[in-house]
Amino acid sequence: MQKPFAQRCIEPDCGSTFELAAPLYVCSRCGGLLDVDWTEPPAVDLDSLRNVWRSRMTSFEAADRSGVWRFRELLPFAADVQIVTLNEGNTPLYNAPRSSEYCGVDSLQLKHQGANPTGSFKDTGMTSAVTQAKVLGARLVACASTGNTAASLAAYAAQAGLLCAILVPEGQVSYAKLAQSLDYGAKVLEIEGNFDSCMRVIRELSDDGSIYLVNSINPFRIEGQKTVAIELAEQLAWQVPDHLVVPGGNLGNSSAFGKGFRELLALGLTTRMPRISVVQAEGASPFAAYVNGQRGEFVDEQHPSTLASAIKIGAPVSWKKALRAVSETEGQVLTVSEQEIADAKAVIGRDGIGCEPASATTVAGIRKLRAEGFIKPGETVVAVLTGHLLKDTDYVNKYYNNSLETEHGQRIQGTFSNPPIQVRGSLDELRSVLSSLG
Ligand code: F0G
Repeated sequence: MQKPFAQRCIEPDCGSTFELAAPLYVCSRCGGLLDVDWTEPPAVDLDSLRNVWRSRMTSFEAADRSGVWRFRELLPFAADVQIVTLNEGNTPLYNAPRSSEYCGVDSLQLKHQGANPTGSFKDTGMTSAVTQAKVLGARLVACASTGNTAASLAAYAAQAGLLCAILVPEGQVSYAKLAQSLDYGAKVLEIEGNFDSCMRVIRELSDDGSIYLVNSINPFRIEGQKTVAIELAEQLAWQVPDHLVVPGGNLGNSSAFGKGFRELLALGLTTRMPRISVVQAEGASPFAAYVNGQRGEFVDEQHPSTLASAIKIGAPVSWKKALRAVSETEGQVLTVSEQEIADAKAVIGRDGIGCEPASATTVAGIRKLRAEGFIKPGETVVAVLTGHLLKDTDYVNKYYNNSLETEHGQRIQGTFSNPPIQVRGSLDELRSVLSSLG
């Protein structure tokens, strides 16, 4: 299959196109976000494409085993490009009976992106962005991060043999995520301020071309992440769910799902798109405020605040792409409280699945969307869990010990509290604890 791709500005009154090899992050004419796009839609034989994608899962070749690169017909890279992979993707789609019941929906499945090599969805985009860094001959790759992008970039840069620098807000990133970046050998630069300050600085630094920026503003990140939509459709026998619900931070993930499902539909691999809804934490919800009309124009949140530190973001760079995904699929953008996030996370845990706090906004949001009647009885729902439970164990321990508090001093109730029990006595004492279970 031929792969004619270009970078294209998403602004309707601009639409400028650029070569794939142009080292751009935004349109050099109007500053708009860029898509990697087909210059003409590829002509494909749908059945053979589906069969090839599926059969690659049984291959021993790294490019076939990767849940991103087995869909390479839809990726803007030549066949002879040396890919950088850690066997990302191919993540599980779990049934979640307790979470379904909690939300009051008939069919809820959880697509767990925390099962990726570094424990978050970032790996599916980092494999393509770091591959593009190699294609362009970059020396130093960099990102701003609340922790997961950093951990992922650090791992892929190490695998590729590239220098790596990450900017994180000092004191606001979980130790587990920082530990990953340090172990993978990245230079960790802690900045005073929040994620948005880090993002501003790194964008300025990348202007002169001395570093290759791999935040989700980079359209090659989105290319990798869009394959999760393909993988999900494949797991559902090429049906799409009625609803797809994702957390919203910098808004790259929702943008990528929009693009993935748009391309599947354009190719005829599916017959419709799911409604894509985005859930933000109440204290970090500039996108929800804009979409729901509380603000006439998009206004950055100056002091974002949430215990779901991964999505503590007030100036999301990809909001226009996310808006496109939500509008064209008639989804919703909503907010959930800190208490709702914490409780939903515990319920996901009770399904034996678990996730980090930001991921649990989805289940909390689905419960609300069902209560409001936006999700109807009998409709199918998939929530995307973006990060692994062990990404933020401090949060988990505090929740179960009833000591979780927001930065404004609001105490989160341990609704599903489950503190460890100290048993210092005899076997009989242990027996009595065990017999009281259930
Ligand atoms: N969930 C997790 C676990 C995340 O790490 C992030 C973003 C999101 C959700 C939000 O996704 O930005 O595509 O809307 N984390 C970034 C980081 C910002 O630096 O790790 P988004």
